[in-house]
Amino acid sequence: MPTLIRNGRIITAVDDYVADILLENGRIQAIGASLSAGADVTVVDAGGLYVLPGGVDCHTHMENTFGDSTTCDTFESGTKAAAFGGTTTIIDFAFQNKGTSPLEAIARAQATAGDKASIDYGFHVIVTHVDDKVLEDMKVAIRHEGVSSFKMFMAYPNTVMVDDAAIFRAMRMVGQHGGMVALHAENGTIIELLIKEALEQGHTSPRYHGLTRPALMEGEATHRGIRLAELAEAPVYFVHLSAKEALKHVVEARDLGIPVFAETCPHYLFFDDSEYEKEGFDVARYVMSPPLRDKESQKALWTALKTDDLQLVSTDHCPFCMKEGHLGRVRQKPYGEDDFSRIPNGVPGVETRMTVIYDGGVRQNRITLNRFVELTSTAPAKLFGLFPRKGTIAVGSDADIVLFDPNECHTISAHTHHSNCDYTLFEGKHVHGRVKKVFLRGELIVDGDSWLGRPGNGRFVKRGEVGGY
Ligand code: URP
Ligand code: ZN
Ligand code: ZN
Ligand code: ZN
Repeated sequence: MPTLIRNGRIITAVDDYVADILLENGRIQAIGASLSAGADVTVVDAGGLYVLPGGVDCHTHMENTFGDSTTCDTFESGTKAAAFGGTTTIIDFAFQNKGTSPLEAIARAQATAGDKASIDYGFHVIVTHVDDKVLEDMKVAIRHEGVSSFKMFMAYPNTVMVDDAAIFRAMRMVGQHGGMVALHAENGTIIELLIKEALEQGHTSPRYHGLTRPALMEGEATHRGIRLAELAEAPVYFVHLSAKEALKHVVEARDLGIPVFAETCPHYLFFDDSEYEKEGFDVARYVMSPPLRDKESQKALWTALKTDDLQLVSTDHCPFCMKEGHLGRVRQKPYGEDDFSRIPNGVPGVETRMTVIYDGGVRQNRITLNRFVELTSTAPAKLFGLFPRKGTIAVGSDADIVLFDPNECHTISAHTHHSNCDYTLFEGKHVHGRVKKVFLRGELIVDGDSWLGRPGNGRFVKRGEVGGY
């Protein structure tokens, strides 16, 4: 059934005006002043509300397994949480087991998400092994499967880390075919050595997670990744950039016109490494990689979001519970109670991204309202081959729409969120700005506190060429 959203203030990356929007057959059918509504049209009054394109979070981990631990959100709980936070598309991960094809990984991830996801989704392939066949299959993934980005790890030796030659070969291949490599840039072998030394000295508490992953080694890997991409004549994307030591290489490269792109995440924008100075295992809630950085990095990240040295904000939503056994989940954060290196890395964030970036960014005058939309929706859609179907409000685009009240306050809490995770880093934070209604391809899926979405209603979205933003 068509829906007419009346009198909302439509905000895109470049527009800001009051108009009506007609949603029909999953698409935005018309935008204009005083559109007329037929008898079969549901009319929604959006007076006083912002009308935003649905959020695009290009970095989430729903029911992803790392080592012995699996993230506590399934595609069902995680996409519901995302929707309540104003996100209508995620790009998650398909994991290539060593010796298998990226195409198998994609098929497996699609089978996992298919009947659970309630918002639209795509995948990056995590590539853990490169050979001639794998490279050929990466080409097929880009051309035929709509999977055009590939995450590779410069960290975690013995599990997912790949060497520079593998990264270079992958970059060279995907760069020629409209794809892009996304790098987890930390120097894995040095970090491994520092972890081993810390444990030998009896340093087992979670604060050593931060101390053994120095910012300088994120900077080193970022610099190396840029040089590899330059040599491969391919674009490169840095996931979860956290440190000023890494940012400076991105800035330098972009100033030279090299196609280098990077995201940061809310946890790096709102928390710093002083959290690791606290005593006790509670610090494990801040164990993610890269770790929280110093206050100067935090300031530099906000500036870079404003100046487009960083292109977008994703969440790296990778939730593990603080309580073992919560909702039946095992090998969660307490798995590393006696050894910080066993604490599963990652934090939740998919549900809070839009609100905290609005509250801390727009309301604190760090970024404009248009830039907020660009960072959380338009830029990820453009960079990862989803635009203009996703990421904007335009005739013909998918009718993924968020009605957002900029003035309504609420207090963030794990007691009221929809993720399976038993904590949020933002517990108790009072924020202004609230998601009121969410439409996915024209269908109302969030209405205030009511959930109208359906598992399996999310669609796999084939993505086009990436990295051209
Ligand atoms: O700590 C993190 N970021 N865990 C998720 C996996 C990754 O590296 O993105
Ligand atoms: Zn990573
Ligand atoms: Zn991640
Ligand atoms: Zn308030």
